[in-house]
Amino acid sequence: MRCLLTFLLLLGLAGPAVAADRFHPGDIWPDDQGVHINAHGGGVLFHEGTYYWFGEHKVAGRGGNSAQVGVSCYSSQDLYNWKNEGIALKVDDDPTSEIRRGCIIERPKVIYNERDKRFVMWFHLEHHGKGYATARTAVAISSQMTGPYQFHRSYRPNAGKWPVGFDEDEATDDQVGLLKRDHLGGQMSRDMTVFVDDDGRAYHIGSAEENYTLHISLLTADYLDFTGKFVRIFPGGHNEAPAICKHDGKYWLIASGCTGWDPNEARSYVADSMSGPWKPLGNPCRGPHPSGGMGPERTWGGQSTFILPVHGRPGAFIAMFDVWRPRNPIDGRYLWLPVSFEDGRILVTHPGPWSLDDLDAVTNAVSP
Ligand code: GAL
Repeated sequence: MRCLLTFLLLLGLAGPAVAADRFHPGDIWPDDQGVHINAHGGGVLFHEGTYYWFGEHKVAGRGGNSAQVGVSCYSSQDLYNWKNEGIALKVDDDPTSEIRRGCIIERPKVIYNERDKRFVMWFHLEHHGKGYATARTAVAISSQMTGPYQFHRSYRPNAGKWPVGFDEDEATDDQVGLLKRDHLGGQMSRDMTVFVDDDGRAYHIGSAEENYTLHISLLTADYLDFTGKFVRIFPGGHNEAPAICKHDGKYWLIASGCTGWDPNEARSYVADSMSGPWKPLGNPCRGPHPSGGMGPERTWGGQSTFILPVHGRPGAFIAMFDVWRPRNPIDGRYLWLPVSFEDGRILVTHPGPWSLDDLDAVTNAVSP
């Protein structure tokens, strides 16, 4: 019976959803048409009173792990109920296009450029038919939040540049062999996110050096290019799925290890400045899985994608994770979980169904 309902919800045959007033982490999440939300590896932007959720649009079956449609957009006033706004960035059928149907588009994130009054979408791009060898990051632009976004260009970031403070002669090849290899052509970029600081500066955070090392790069004022200023954090640390927020004047980063679609133990870091130094804080996930599934040592079966600041509630954040279903990606689930900050650490708990009104209660219930 449960299987039948899931099937109907994936197809949108179960009818319009009843308005929700809580998050149900890991369950099917119906949109305004009663269809399971299709915005994986996503990010959320709050703009003029509305939240917009962008994510990978997946289709059924193994082929759904590549981009057959594009990037979806949903809107919401309350974070529980989402209206499908359609496809914000469409794949292209032109075989010469970088976003040709069947390429890989992952982890799309939209930021708003206040100066240019323009929406800028960054995403991880792998060219059609190349597996994950392309390792590029790409940018698309729109004058409207919900799109259509026009593909602008893709990058291997920071070509010809060394990280800030880097001394080429001091570092040994086992620490910087991959960095040097990619120096001229540009650094690899796979799992990524973007972050706009209070001063309007935007940063790109990406897994580089064959996923061994995260690079944090300052973007240009139009948010469309790299300035060439970047830092490496945790060389050899194997961090993927970066998600970041700012709280109490500090920068908090959650990431995963590198096990592909399979869940692993999350990690967290804190810094006083985007350029570091970043201090490791260990696994931010705490407490059991309320339904007895995978616990915090495997991120309850999820992988980080974004940390969402709740508008109008200073200090309130939601950590967004994906539960991937690579055999049937359209059935991937979302874990939106409450974040708390205690004793200099960022913590995430899995309370089961919860609402923003429970935020204090659910975060206080778990001690580090
Ligand atoms: C994960 C990554 C996903 C996707 C997947 C492919 O580690 O976070 O975005 O790239 O690997 O195996």
